[in-house]
Amino acid sequence: TLSLSLTVTLLQLNVPEQPVVALHASDVILNCSFSHANPFNLSDVSVFWQLTDTQRNVHRYSAGHDQLVDQAERFANRTRLFPNQLGLGNASLLLSRVVVADEGSYTCFVRVQDFGSAALLLQVAAPYSKPAVTLEPESNLRPGDEVALTCVAYGGYPEGDVIWQDASGHNLTENITTSVVANEEGLFTMTSVLTVVLEPNSTYSCRLINPLLGEEGYAFVTITGQNIAFPPVALWVTIGLAVCLLVLLIALAAVCRRKIKESCEEARREAEEAKELEEEESKTGQPNAHLVKSQPFKWSEKRCG
Ligand SMILES: *[C@@H]1O[C@H](CO)[C@@H](O)[C@H](O)[C@H]1NC(C)=O
Ligand SMILES: *[C@@H]1O[C@H](CO)[C@@H](O)[C@H](O)[C@H]1NC(C)=O
Ligand SMILES: *[C@@H]1O[C@H](CO)[C@@H](O)[C@H](O)[C@H]1NC(C)=O
Ligand SMILES: *[C@@H]1O[C@H](CO)[C@@H](O)[C@H](O)[C@H]1NC(C)=O
Ligand SMILES: *[C@@H]1O[C@H](CO)[C@@H](O)[C@H](O)[C@H]1NC(C)=O
Ligand SMILES: *[C@@H]1O[C@H](CO)[C@@H](O)[C@H](O)[C@H]1NC(C)=O
Ligand SMILES: *[C@@H]1O[C@H](CO)[C@@H](O)[C@H](O)[C@H]1NC(C)=O
Repeated sequence: TLSLSLTVTLLQLNVPEQPVVALHASDVILNCSFSHANPFNLSDVSVFWQLTDTQRNVHRYSAGHDQLVDQAERFANRTRLFPNQLGLGNASLLLSRVVVADEGSYTCFVRVQDFGSAALLLQVAAPYSKPAVTLEPESNLRPGDEVALTCVAYGGYPEGDVIWQDASGHNLTENITTSVVANEEGLFTMTSVLTVVLEPNSTYSCRLINPLLGEEGYAFVTITGQNIAFPPVALWVTIGLAVCLLVLLIALAAVCRRKIKESCEEARREAEEAKELEEEESKTGQPNAHLVKSQPFKWSEKRCG
């Protein structure tokens, strides 16, 4: 058994140490190479690719042919070795039409008299759509209102980082809620909601950073007077005008009251004079010109109560 365990470790395999990144729906080569000192017969080479975790069969090759009867169904028609490269120690696997579910660890086994194995990590990446920012509510906004800015990007993988920034590029750390939803292909729609208290003339931008692909894009909204029904200046002018009008009305009312009071008092005085004259007249029996004024006096007395 000692000699057996020695032969097991003899064949050295080379696989990428860093994770291999494959774009969704594209093809990828999972490199696996071996160096064998002695010349060997190709029909003696066996290659076996397997999912490390589940040990499902990805691709098997031996006795000069692919042996695919026990291949996992989801890899059917999507895998290929390069038989003419085997003699050069190249046991790499071509995986076509990569999907998110392909992500994971793959182990490459090779036997040429001696036997060796090595595992590599496959990561899948998909670029997101350009982010789009929408505003809710969209109109009749007033300064001080709370608005929700929603940034959406879809069809990407893996989960990205969403960063909200203001016009001068400062990170906003306010009320941000980011959610991720996967479609049946495993691709993500990322939705990030930033809640802000509205200030006129402010810009909010949403940046999306894919950890595998880097920055993918950004979108922004600028909230100007157009979105806002009453920008502060207009609001204060309106309030100012309203106050002026009110003061004017009060002043007018006061003046009117005084005028009415004055005319009432005058009327009362005149009435008293008229009475005196009447009394005098009845004493002297002489007619008096003031008497004609008794008519308007009666009218105004009614008003004064
Ligand atoms: C696979 O190997 C070839 C040749 O050594 C190299 O050019 C290529 O970059 C490798 N691919 C990966 C994903 O490591
Ligand atoms: C193996 O062969 C394939 C097909 O020629 C090539 O694309 C790949 O880079 C080779 N890998 C290595 C490690 O040489
Ligand atoms: C390789 O193996 C085949 C079948 O076993 C045999 O016919 C052939 O002669 C061998 N070739 C070499 C170079 O050993
Ligand atoms: C693989 O290809 C064969 C022949 O083209 C076809 O009959 C089979 O349905 C394919 N399998 C899958 C899973 O696509
Ligand atoms: C904003 O946050 C991102 C990620 O957290 C960081 O890379 C960047 O340097 C920050 N920018 C500023 C201006 O703080
Ligand atoms: C964020 O906004 C939601 C809804 O407006 C609110 O319920 C929550 O308290 C806020 N959180 C913070 C930290 O402001
Ligand atoms: C809005 O902001 C821009 C740039 O920050 C500035 O040029 C412009 O004068 C501002 N407008 C108002 C009405 O404050």
